Order: sequence, then C-alpha cells, then structure tokens
Amino acid sequence: MLRLTTIALVFGLTLAACSSSGGDSTGIPVQDADLVAAGDVLYQANCAECHGSDLRGTDKGPSHLSIVYVPGHHGDQAFVVAARVGVRSHHWDFGNMAPVDGLSDDDLTAIIAFVRENQRIQGFEP
Ligand code: HEC
Repeated sequence: MLRLTTIALVFGLTLAACSSSGGDSTGIPVQDADLVAAGDVLYQANCAECHGSDLRGTDKGPSHLSIVYVPGHHGDQAFVVAARVGVRSHHWDFGNMAPVDGLSDDDLTAIIAFVRENQRIQGFEP
C-alpha cells in the first residue's frame, strides 16, 4: 500500500512538472522565506514602479510573470545585469530600462528570490 502511494505521488509530480502554469509546476524550487520577505520590500521600492507591485507590469515596464522570464530564458543573472547596467529594449515597446542604483549583491539575491517565488506560486502568463 505504501509503495503504491509512493508511485502515485512520483507519477503525479512528474505530470505536474510537464505543465507550465501555476502551483509547483514551474520547476522553480521553493525560495527561502526570509529572502523572499526582504526581496518583497526591495522590489516594491525599486522595481514595482515599472514592473508592478504584483509583478504583472505597468505602462512603464513588462510583467515579470510573463513566460518571457522563465528561468530557462532569463536566468538569475539577467536580473543582476538588468539592475547593474540596465536593459536595452528588445522584448517589448516600453523603451530601455535604466540601471537601478544602490542595490547590493545581497539585495539582488533577495529580489530574485522574491520574483522566483512569485513565478513559482502564480505560474507564468502566456
Ligand atoms: C523605470 C522603469 C523600470 C524600473 C524601475 C525597473 N525596470 Fe526592469 N525593465 C524595464 C523595462 C522597460 C524593461 C523591458 C526592456 C525590454 O524591452 O526588453 C525591463 C526589463 C527587465 C528585465 C529583463 C532583462 C532582459 O534581459 O530582458 C529584468 C530582469 C528586469 N527588468 C528587472 C528589474 C529589476 C530587478 C528591477 C528593480 C531592481 C527593475 N527591473 C526596475 C523598466 C524598469
């Protein structure tokens, strides 16, 4: 009985990993809760103006829940580079993103954890 349950569980997880929306189906690991909380504050102060307090974008910048920002296409390093040197507009029509000053490496690590945790929980927009 125990073994059957285990097989069912593993099978269920495998299936979930293949779909792309919501829950744990993104393949993104659960992020450290303290980092996520710190990243939330930093994101709201530095990124939300353009990317939205709910990460879903504004008229000044794209949604970080867009499928464009899956880790496989925009890895964590893309977030570091975006904050450090800015982004030349290439995916959207919002214009360029200027570098964001005053963020330490630890700040960026926290911001990335916050974004990944939201992507993991909410899933990606098509
Ligand atoms: C003043 C507006 C603005 C602010 C503030 C802002 N961004 Fe952006 N960001 C943009 C725009 C516009 C783009 C889209 C550029 C494009 O067309 O690809 C973008 C794109 C990005 C990308 C995608 C980079 C790539 O390689 O395609 C990342 C990652 C990103 N922003 C992270 C952040 C983070 C993290 C913060 C806060 C520390 C932040 N942004 C703050 C406007 C902003």
